[in-house]
Amino acid sequence: MLNVIRRKVDRLLSEIKYMGALRQHAKKLPALTAQDRLIAEACRQEGAFVTSLEGLGLPFTTPMLEEAEKLLVKMQADLASRTDLSTWGTTENPAYPQIFTVTDLPAFSQWAQNQRLLNIIESYIGLPVAFQGVHLRRDFANEHPVTTEFWHRDLEDRRVIKLFVYLSDVAIETGPYEYIPRSKTPAAIVRRIQASFAKRIETNPYDMGITDEEMAAIVPRADWHTCVGAAGTVLFSDPVAVFHHGKSRTQGRSALFFVYTAQDPLRPQDCKQYSDRTYARPEQFQPQTESSVPAMP
Ligand SMILES: [Fe+2]
Repeated sequence: MLNVIRRKVDRLLSEIKYMGALRQHAKKLPALTAQDRLIAEACRQEGAFVTSLEGLGLPFTTPMLEEAEKLLVKMQADLASRTDLSTWGTTENPAYPQIFTVTDLPAFSQWAQNQRLLNIIESYIGLPVAFQGVHLRRDFANEHPVTTEFWHRDLEDRRVIKLFVYLSDVAIETGPYEYIPRSKTPAAIVRRIQASFAKRIETNPYDMGITDEEMAAIVPRADWHTCVGAAGTVLFSDPVAVFHHGKSRTQGRSALFFVYTAQDPLRPQDCKQYSDRTYARPEQFQPQTESSVPAMP
């Protein structure tokens, strides 16, 4: 009992400190161009903004894409060395994404820490930002939700920006990012979603969210935003603020996931996965020649 009270008091004090820091930093926020203000404002209002690498026009985009392409070949080779490809497409596809943590590679970290980009994100987060890291990620055909295909919200910090860069064309069948704008989830709706999740985990304790059908019973599908787009599409989103998921899919896709929080995030332990060894790192694998790499199933 004492521990519960102590935790509640600690959380309250932490929130008071956070609100004070936001107020203090409001005067120091960077000035943005009109175009960049639109991005920060859309994240505040709706929780997301869709653009493209071309539209953003950041320096070092080409070397970043070239490095990503090389690593995708490496990822496929690594997967092929561990998987009996003869079963792919006939029995089970991998249910879990393949992730490389590429945070330490300059091609990604340099792009990710472009000052203009950091300014947009700082303007949204309201505090000095920390670039937590970047995952290069392949998601495979998976027609039923297993992990992040369930509707959920993330939890690393009070405000987070995840910046997704599609590396392959993403249509409905390749599992686009889908979210519900903040304006469609007032407190009463959030409580219904939480109740639906609580009911689900009574019988499925490892599920991380709710299904399409359960969400549609609370928020109509017409209110969901589905972010389809060609390779090069860039999506800014605060996945703590909005319910979201990667739609279940019949074909695979690849993307980069860049993650930003405040410098003193609410749950630092949940940020470590973007830079530690939770996921594979490219240097762990032997280089392979392109001709030795089987085609993606
Ligand atoms: Fe998420």
